[in-house]
Formats: sequence, C-alpha cells, structure tokens
Amino acid sequence: MIEIRNLVKTYGKGSAAVHALNGVDFDVAAGEVVMLMGPSGSGKTTLLSAMGCILQATSGSIQIDGREIVGLPESKLPRIRLEHFGFIFQGFNLFPALTARENVELSLKLKGVSSSQCRRRATELLEQVGLGDKLKTHPADLSGGQKQRIAIARALAGDPPIILADEPTAALDSHSGQTVMELLTALARQRQRAVVVVTHDNRVLHYADRTVHIADGRIANHFEEGRTAA
Ligand SMILES: Nc1ncnc2c1ncn2[C@@H]1O[C@H](COP(=O)(O)OP(=O)(O)OP(=O)(O)O)[C@@H](O)[C@H]1O
Ligand SMILES: [Mg+2]
Repeated sequence: MIEIRNLVKTYGKGSAAVHALNGVDFDVAAGEVVMLMGPSGSGKTTLLSAMGCILQATSGSIQIDGREIVGLPESKLPRIRLEHFGFIFQGFNLFPALTARENVELSLKLKGVSSSQCRRRATELLEQVGLGDKLKTHPADLSGGQKQRIAIARALAGDPPIILADEPTAALDSHSGQTVMELLTALARQRQRAVVVVTHDNRVLHYADRTVHIADGRIANHFEEGRTAA
C-alpha cells in the first residue's frame, strides 16, 4: 500500500537547513497497524506529512498503491489526498462553529457526495464512534476524547484506504485512548485499511502489528509486536 525508499526531507537551505528525514525506508501493507515512535524532533510528523502528500519530500521515493508521489506537481496532490488518506492529526482541527455532524459532513461534501447522503453517512459514523447522542453538539461542549472521536469519524468518512494518525491518543484518558485504538485496529482488520499511528503512548503499543522506531530522521529498527488486542 505504501512503499517508501531513501526518503529525504530538508527544511530550509544552507546554514539554516534542518535535515528532518535522512534516507527513510518504510513500508505499510493493507490491513496492517504500524506504530511510529521516536523522540521529539525525530521526524515523525514530517514522515507522516510526506506520505500523506501534505508536504513535498526533498528526494527519494514514496509509492502509494504503486503510484510515485514524490516530485508530482502541487496541483495533483489534493486529489491524491482526498482519494487515499484519512488524517487524524494533533489538535483535532475541528471547525468550532460547526456541530459534530456538520464537521463530519464537510469532508464528504468535498468529495461531491449529495447532502442527504452526507447527513446519513455522518450520522452513521458518529454512531459507530459512540457519539450518536452528540450529533448537534459543538466541539467546545465536548471532552477531549469525544472531540478526537469526531476527528476519527471525519477521517473515516470518505472510506480512505490509508489512515494516518499523529498522536491520536495523547490528549485522551486511558479508556478513550483504548476506544480510539480499538476503532482503528478494527478498521484495519475488517476493511483491510493501512493504519499508521505516531505515538508516545505506551498504553496503546499492544495494538500494533509492528512498531517502527525513528531517531534523527532515520529508522532505527523494526520488531514485531504481539497482537494481544486484535
Ligand atoms: N516547517 C518546518 N520548518 C523547519 N523545520 C521544521 C519544520 N517542521 C519540522 N521541522 C524540524 O524538523 C525536525 C523534525 O520535526 P517533526 O515535526 O517531524 O518531529 P516529530 O518527531 O514529529 O516531533 P514531536 O514528537 O515533537 O511532534 C525537527 O528538527 C523540527 O524542528
Ligand atoms: Mg510531531
């Protein structure tokens, strides 16, 4: 699903250059949950952003479903993002003026889905994440865990083959964190989605099929995790 080879990302130029990724190789298969761990500043968000076409890599290769995305013109990226990825990034990025359901509907509208379909699908997704009774509530009146679940419903709305999540459980209590990871692993297993989760959270590591460590913009090692929660 995702094949990354010798990926380099340098921010800035000359003496101000920051070498965020220094030749990363990284693969993710459909149906797999991969955790990406590493110290602050090691390049986790940069790697996730590059593979999600949010950020242009400097060099190397990223193939999404067999298609090379490094070096594609900027104008091609929004469509690839829309068709392939669901994003769950730090800070939720919900629209405060919209209700829970409207936040989820919005991403479907962008895909050209009709209003009645948007409403039906958004309701269904929010019910799935346990927010069926909060459809008309605004983000400000919800807990961190509930907001994160809206963000998840929104990421899943377009049924993307790849889910990229940056610290999805960081702001959550232990129980909400488990619920979020259960949702993501169920999706990977039942619908053969590829799920990449950046985390510092040791409480959710057992949900991984694999944990990949990154340090100074390089993959440090790979090892298998037990699938105790699958
Ligand atoms: N837009 C940017 N411009 C310049 N440097 C950047 C930019 N974004 C990130 N960096 C630098 O690139 C390196 C990797 O950053 P990145 O955000 O990928 O780290 P991270 O592993 O996600 O860290 P954290 O765990 O703190 O979120 C850091 O040295 C960071 O300062
Ligand atoms: Mg980060």
